[in-house]
Amino acid sequence: MKTVIYSTTSKDIEKAAEIISRGGLVAFPTETVYGLGADAMNSKAVADVYKAKGRPSDNPMIVHVSDSSDLDKLTGSITNDMKRLMDELWPGPLTMVVPKGESVPMRTTGGLDTVAVRMPANEVALKLIAMSGCPIAAPSANLSGKPSPTRADDVIADMDGRIQGIIRGEDCKVGIESTVVDMTGETPVILRPGIITAQKIEAVLGKKVIYDSALFKKAEDEGFKPRSPGMKYKHYAPEADMVIVSGQRTNVESEIERIREDKEREGLKVGVILFEENGFDEAAHDLFADLRDMDKAGVDLIIAGALDTDDQWGFAVMNRMVRSAGYNIVKV
Ligand code: TXA
Ligand code: MG
Repeated sequence: MKTVIYSTTSKDIEKAAEIISRGGLVAFPTETVYGLGADAMNSKAVADVYKAKGRPSDNPMIVHVSDSSDLDKLTGSITNDMKRLMDELWPGPLTMVVPKGESVPMRTTGGLDTVAVRMPANEVALKLIAMSGCPIAAPSANLSGKPSPTRADDVIADMDGRIQGIIRGEDCKVGIESTVVDMTGETPVILRPGIITAQKIEAVLGKKVIYDSALFKKAEDEGFKPRSPGMKYKHYAPEADMVIVSGQRTNVESEIERIREDKEREGLKVGVILFEENGFDEAAHDLFADLRDMDKAGVDLIIAGALDTDDQWGFAVMNRMVRSAGYNIVKV
C-alpha cells in the first residue's frame, strides 16, 4: 500500500479526513502521541487498525471527538462528574471510560460494554475529526509493543506501507499517552496514569480518585488483572536490552557509570537515559523519542535512571519506563 504523507494545511487535512470517512486509516498528531485513526463507527475500518498495528483484538481503542456534543452518539449516560471533567480538562490529555452507547461497534471497544473517549488538545487532530464527520478511534500509531511515536518520522518508520495516510505535524508536546480514568462507578479509578494527575481530577470533582491496583503490580505477579486491557501486553519496548537503575541520585549515577564501563569493555554499545532530577515534563516529552533514537543508533544496552514515583508525573513516566525495560530494575 502506498502511504501518502500529508501536511497540516486545511486542504491536506480535508483529504486525510476523506480517507477516514471512506473507511481508510490515517495517522495524525495529538498533544500526547501520534494516533492511528479510523472511523470509530465502522467495524471494518477498526479491524484494519488492529491489523496495521499487529494489535491483539481485545485491546480497545480510545474514541476521539472534536466537540463534547459528539459524546451523545457514543454513550447513553453523561453524569455530572463527566460533564465537569469535560468542561475543565477538555480538550486535553484525559480519556474517560464511560458506558458504551448501542451504536458503537463492539470491535471498537474490544468487546467491552464501556467506551473510552477523549478530546485531544491539538488543532490538527480537532480539524481532522470535525472534517471526517465521525468520531475517530485511534490507538497510538506504533507497531504493537514498540514505544509510542511522538514525532512524524517515528510514525513513518512504523507505518509506511501499512496505512493510507500520515499527517506530518509537529512533535507531540506531552510525549506520553493520556490519563485514562474509569468514570463508570461512583469513585473515579485511574487505569493509566498521565500528566493529568489524580490530584487534578480530585480538585475538579471535589471527591477522592483511586488508582487501579494493577498499576502497582508486575505482569507476572499473582492477581495482575488490569481493568485497562492494554496494560497487560508487552509495551514500549526498544530493540535494545534495557535496565533501570533506581535509588539515591549519586548512587544511581555511579552505578550507571559502572555498568556502562563494564559493558563497553565487553564490546557492547551502551546508551544512557538520565533525566534531570525533577525534570518530569522533560522526561515525559523525551522518553519514547530517546528509546527510538537509541535503537536507530544501534545501541545494544540502554541504562536508564529511575524517576521519583512520589511525584505524580514521575509515577506516570515510570509506568512506561518499567515496561520498556521489561521490569528489569537494579536497586542501589
Ligand atoms: O494519548 C492517548 O491516549 C493516545 C492518543 C493517540 O490519543 N492514544 C492511546 O491509545 O494511547 P492506546 O490504544 O495506545 O491506549 C489506549 C488505552 C489502552 O491501555 C486500552 O486498554 C485502554 O486505553 N482502554 C481503551 N478503552 C477502554 C475501556 N473501555 N476500558 C478500559 N480501558 C480502555
Ligand atoms: Mg499504545
